[in-house]
Amino acid sequence: MHDISLLSAEEARAAIPDLCDVLADCVNGGASVGFMQPYGPADAEPYWQGVVDSVATGATLLFVAKTEERIVGTVQVGIAQMPNQPHRGDLKKLLVHRSSRGGGLARLLMTAAEREAAKLGKTLLVLDTATGSDAEAIYPRLGWERAGVIPDYALWPEGGFCATTFFYKRIGEA
Ligand SMILES: CC(C)(COP(=O)(O)OP(=O)(O)OC[C@H]1O[C@@H](n2cnc3c(N)ncnc32)[C@H](O)[C@@H]1OP(=O)(O)O)[C@@H](O)C(=O)NCCC(=O)NCCS
Repeated sequence: MHDISLLSAEEARAAIPDLCDVLADCVNGGASVGFMQPYGPADAEPYWQGVVDSVATGATLLFVAKTEERIVGTVQVGIAQMPNQPHRGDLKKLLVHRSSRGGGLARLLMTAAEREAAKLGKTLLVLDTATGSDAEAIYPRLGWERAGVIPDYALWPEGGFCATTFFYKRIGEA
């Protein structure tokens, strides 16, 4: 049974060890999500501390997916934007542990993130992902529109340039 929840800063702090495991697993599985290999759970701690701080200020919504009490997936929405973009949110770090993929967790996480962002008045979500990745194939299934590709935008975790595809999705009431 899957359980999706939106975490408070205190809950997010307690979740750091599990979140480190999920992020390290994704990077070691070849996901281009900001970090380079080799990357262990301890390497991920500073990143998640920063996310917890951002949750505490209200700038970030952090969702987790639990299976049998263990966090196996996560996604974030950056909701603090410049004054001329109050209606936009940035979807970030959709991550599902390799042991839990293909069971619909990404869809559940994205649905929860969109619903909460819409409640906050967001009408447009934006994300970017590595061109040619599994994730790039998934977003159109979840109703996202492909905006375009920027070549050589990032690096694959094992090295080598990686193009990035930008997507957007209108949510809530336009
Ligand atoms: C991308 C990722 C989050 C998907 O997680 P998941 O839980 O396996 O995805 P789901 O099972 O919810 O699948 C979502 C949809 O995509 C489809 N899908 C899953 N894997 C797919 C693939 N490799 N190619 C095409 N479609 C796929 C599913 O069938 C499902 O569609 P449906 O609900 O219409 O049947 C996971 O592969 C991952 O963590 N990858 C590494 C990290 C990463 O790259 N994240 C993206 C950062 S932008």
